[in-house]
Amino acid sequence: MRFAWPLTQGGNTIRKKRRTAGPEIRESGFSASPKRAASSIMAVMPDALPEYHPLTVLRDWSAVSPGSAFRISDAQTGIIAFGATGSGKTSGPAAHFGRAYLLAGFGGVILCSKRDERAMWERWAEETGRSGHLTIIDKSGRYRFNFLEWEASRAGEGGGLTINIVALLDEIAGAIASGAGKAESGSGGDNKFFEDALHHLNTNLVDLALFASYGDPQGGSVSLPLMRLILNTAPQSLKEAESHEWKDREWGCPAIVRAADEATKNADEDTRADFEECRNYWLQEFPNLSDRTRSIVTLSFSMLVRPLITRPLRKLFSTDTNVKPEDTFKGRIILVDLPVQEYFLAGRVANLVWKRCFQRAVLGRMQPNDGTYLRPVFLWADECQNFVTEFDAAYQAVARSAGGCTVYLVQNRESLLRVLHSPSAVDSLLGNLQCKCFCQNSSVETNDWAAKLLGERWRDIISTTHGTSNPMTPDMEGTQSAGASSSEQRRYYVEPASFTTLKRGGPSNDYQVECIVYNGGMKFSGYDEHGHPEQQPHTQMTFDQLTKEQRGKLRQL
Ligand SMILES: Nc1ncnc2c1ncn2[C@@H]1O[C@H](COP(=O)(O)OP(=O)(O)O)[C@@H](O)[C@H]1O
Ligand SMILES: [Mg+2]
Repeated sequence: MRFAWPLTQGGNTIRKKRRTAGPEIRESGFSASPKRAASSIMAVMPDALPEYHPLTVLRDWSAVSPGSAFRISDAQTGIIAFGATGSGKTSGPAAHFGRAYLLAGFGGVILCSKRDERAMWERWAEETGRSGHLTIIDKSGRYRFNFLEWEASRAGEGGGLTINIVALLDEIAGAIASGAGKAESGSGGDNKFFEDALHHLNTNLVDLALFASYGDPQGGSVSLPLMRLILNTAPQSLKEAESHEWKDREWGCPAIVRAADEATKNADEDTRADFEECRNYWLQEFPNLSDRTRSIVTLSFSMLVRPLITRPLRKLFSTDTNVKPEDTFKGRIILVDLPVQEYFLAGRVANLVWKRCFQRAVLGRMQPNDGTYLRPVFLWADECQNFVTEFDAAYQAVARSAGGCTVYLVQNRESLLRVLHSPSAVDSLLGNLQCKCFCQNSSVETNDWAAKLLGERWRDIISTTHGTSNPMTPDMEGTQSAGASSSEQRRYYVEPASFTTLKRGGPSNDYQVECIVYNGGMKFSGYDEHGHPEQQPHTQMTFDQLTKEQRGKLRQL
């Protein structure tokens, strides 16, 4: 049984076919929108709620299932949409939720895989009165974010600074490795060794830069060119490290080690011990690495920082800052228009930097306990396999209480497995994105998994038999027999094959996109195959890709 329900603004109208009179209907609350009056996000709402209260309705689903709605609390437990390319993920469920988030006043960061995402979001922002809040990060360099300075200026992080910068560099290194196809062979053996060696190098590069500026009232000073300078002037053998020619140099690695020694001389015991470790790395461990290992980690580091210190990203990430992740907390919507489709590795790096720093900023947020609520902020990634990392599962598990809402779109489970490498990492991510939308899909693995997720119930299966026995002699008639038996069997709510035939939008489907929606723990009213009402863990929704006007014009043709 299928219903559609009323929306709202412009395209992606969900067709109205209300069966029941809804309970009291109110408008949900984004006050900054000049088009607020025009908005008809109708909501099944309790009496006036404080702004951004978790029960605030973002989408009224009562026409699909009486009394049901998608609320801020649902947004905060994350969404993932699956579907083959062209199945209607973007124009169906994504448009449904994306517009609702904009109307409700959310801030957010939008990662871009494709060129056309900017125009789409500009249109959605225009339709929802949010154009003024949209900030486009593009190669023009109008908006810039020096993420290392931002990290260094974050108060009260202590030793966390190195860990956070290195974690970000590790993620970028992972993106480079998977772009080069290295990740396909898994993370065992040689790869793991070099990953660890690079991680260790990064840690000591960041540490040395920070020790050299220890105690500086301006705060720790670390930059990618400084890190590169340290590495390029580091000793290549123990003999060199002990030579006066190297040790007495007035610049580069030996001079920075001396400056760090001087700066930490009167520091507390722990800091001093950490510095000794770091000095030991540069004077003993690094020169003692085998030539092969040293040249591989040096090259890996160079590949890692190169996108960030050359065009087009240098200006965007290695100069000053005029937009930062916390701006989303005031409603800014930051779109990283450096799509992977066009900028390849540089695009991935740019998006990953924004993603990681946004996640860090969200995790640092605290819910006020004065009866007000944080403005929700979303992290949006279409074709999310380009940006997914292992950190996402941990992030989303905690982000909920900090008002963080993740929306990921992907073709199938295999796409996630390719980047996360293990089924348990995929399950961990999916377990933390509670709302799951399934558009048309021909991935057997994904369809089987989706059917299992939605679950089974007992069904009366009636089987009938009918037969004629063989006649004893040619002139005799055979005996007729018939029977019916009933047995209980377990059957899926939705059979795996059902996902293969959902409508994919476009003219051949009358511009309709069908999607099966599951929202962890939510029950929807539905009907079993005999037409009897039952509560189900899922519902099927139909989204219209056309605006009312577009549909009107189509009818006139
Ligand atoms: N606004 C629209 N009007 C008409 N057709 C559309 C519209 N948006 C998308 N389509 C078509 O509908 C199909 C599904 O598109 P899309 O939502 O982009 O799928 P996906 O995001 O799953 O790749 C495609 O064939 C696309 O060309
Ligand atoms: Mg799409």
